[in-house]
Amino acid sequence: MRTGLIKHSQYMEFLRSVPSFQSLPEDVLSKVADVLEETHYSEGDYIIRQGATGDTFFIISEGQVKVTQQKSSNEEPEFLTTLSIGDWFGEQALKGEDVRTASVTAVGEVTCLVVDRESFMQLIGGLDDVSSRQNESDELKAKLEAEAVFFSS
Ligand code: CMP
Repeated sequence: MRTGLIKHSQYMEFLRSVPSFQSLPEDVLSKVADVLEETHYSEGDYIIRQGATGDTFFIISEGQVKVTQQKSSNEEPEFLTTLSIGDWFGEQALKGEDVRTASVTAVGEVTCLVVDRESFMQLIGGLDDVSSRQNESDELKAKLEAEAVFFSS
C-alpha cells in the first residue's frame, strides 16, 4: 500500500461519510483510499479552469469551493454554486470528451482528495449519483467543446 496505514484509515472513514459513496463496498472504498492524492489550495486558487482538458476527479475533504461558468466567450463568468466538505466535482471531463465545463476556485483554505481518470472509471464513475449529473450539461458541453480553441489559446 502506498498510503500510510493511519492516513488510509482516515481516508476510509471520510469516504464512508460521503453521501454519494454510501453504496460503494468496503473494498472499493479501500482502493479509492489507496490511489487518491491529497492536494491543498489557498483562497482564490484555480482548482479547475473551464475549457482546459482534465483527467482528475475531486472530493472536498476540507473547506469550500466556488463553481463559475462562462456561457460563451464574450460573456462574464456566472456564479453557479458553492460546494463544501463531502461534495465532489470534476466528473464531467472524465466522461467522453475531456473538457472542463466550469471553473472551480478555492474559497479560503481547501483540501481535496484527487482521483485520476483510470481509478475514477474503475471505482466511482458507475455510481448513479455521479453519472446522472451529465445529462443536464450535455448541450452546454457540446458548445464548450466547440469553443475549446478559444479557451485554450
Ligand atoms: P468538470 O467539467 O470536469 O469541471 C468543472 C466541474 O464543475 C464539473 O466537472 C462539475 O463537477 C462542476 N459543475 C459544473 N456545473 C455545475 C453545476 N451547475 N453545479 C455544480 N457543479 C457543477
